[in-house]
Amino acid sequence: MILPKNIKILNESNALLRTKSKDVTFPLDQETKDLINDALTYLEMSQIAEERVKYDLRAGMGLSFIQLGVPKRIFVISEDLGDNDFVRHVIINPIVKSKSEELIYVAEGEGCLSVDRPVEGIVPRHARITIEAYDENGELFTTRVREDMAICFQHELDHLDGILFQDHINPRNPYQNKDFMREI
Ligand code: NI
Repeated sequence: MILPKNIKILNESNALLRTKSKDVTFPLDQETKDLINDALTYLEMSQIAEERVKYDLRAGMGLSFIQLGVPKRIFVISEDLGDNDFVRHVIINPIVKSKSEELIYVAEGEGCLSVDRPVEGIVPRHARITIEAYDENGELFTTRVREDMAICFQHELDHLDGILFQDHINPRNPYQNKDFMREI
């Protein structure tokens, strides 16, 4: 596989990451379609051990367009079903329709391709969410995600509003309210 050259991920120090991204109009132009495809290829390569080592990548399953410097409400997720069998999710102009009351968090903490340092603490996320969004062809669809995928979706949804995962962590008490949430 060849690493897509146009995938340059902004670091958290870049103020653009704090931008609230704008809704996208259809049909998508070719540049946007290419960027969607390339971002997914990049994520898949980052999850394949040999490619990750070869290109010195950090593993990631999601990317929002703002992380590539493009303030459009688009994110992509490459979900590994096991043995590098990937499902591609393309989410455009998403709206959250419902979310569970139950909260969960990732035990080892969240990570982000734009945050290249360890961040201590837990990020409360809804255990299940339902979103409505458009795909790359402009078709409206509804999807319900749970557990680690629900966390990944909420992490990427935050990016569209200029929010980074560490914003949810109280630096004085990074594990606060832990007992009221389920660890996954
Ligand atoms: Ni991120």
